[in-house]
Amino acid sequence: MGGLIQSSIARKVAMALSGLFLVFFLLQHFTINLTSVFSADVFNELSHFMGTNPLVQFALQPVLIFGVLFHFIMGFVLELKNKKARAVKYAKYSGGANSSWMSRNMIYSGLVILAFLGLHFYDFWIPEMVHKYVAFAPEDPTRYYPELLHRFESPVRTGLYVVSFVFLALHLWHGFASSFQSVGFNNKYSVSATKFAKAFSIVIPLGFIIVAIVLHLTH
Ligand code: HEM
Repeated sequence: MGGLIQSSIARKVAMALSGLFLVFFLLQHFTINLTSVFSADVFNELSHFMGTNPLVQFALQPVLIFGVLFHFIMGFVLELKNKKARAVKYAKYSGGANSSWMSRNMIYSGLVILAFLGLHFYDFWIPEMVHKYVAFAPEDPTRYYPELLHRFESPVRTGLYVVSFVFLALHLWHGFASSFQSVGFNNKYSVSATKFAKAFSIVIPLGFIIVAIVLHLTH
């Protein structure tokens, strides 16, 4: 029993740490995206740097991909274990009485984000990998902004992105705030940390939504 609890706590901590890492990634990703709204040149420069710097390509990118895979595989494991535990322990499980709606639906918001990542990789990452490492196409440092605009021409594509970002907000709303608890951050700053996490969960996805819509409207 002790072992079981310990390992389930370890799983929560692992989810929280990988989630916090992805939160940092989101902030960095959003900052670069935001520049596209203000200056094509700055966006091109940053994208060229991220796309060609060996440290970013061969150190940070593999760590990021590992972080994403780890978070979603552990998320499935956690969900399955919780389901199993619930079936036995909570015969009188009464939904909202012992947990919030969002906390019980992390797996579903997570699946929407996973589907979004499939589409997003198809849109950006795969063509980028093909461009660089399969076709060995010559590098044009000004190509990034026009490529970005091209991806957001379709209203359907833009709509799918916007809907996904709403689910991202829901996922972060519970996930980011509870990650502090899972890593044992429990002191006089906890209330402010939770407030910050909740604000981040709204502001960043809303920012992504605005960027997507502005890019769609830009010709
Ligand atoms: C308006 C919103 C967004 C835009 C315009 C956008 C754009 C981009 C672009 C241009 C790339 C670079 C592809 C490459 O060169 O490798 C990229 C990569 C990526 N994006 Fe986004 N993105 C958006 C939202 C998101 C969100 C919300 C997430 C996560 C939930 C996300 C996750 C990723 C990941 C994991 C990569 C791969 C990074 C890598 O190259 O290793 N993106 N995105």
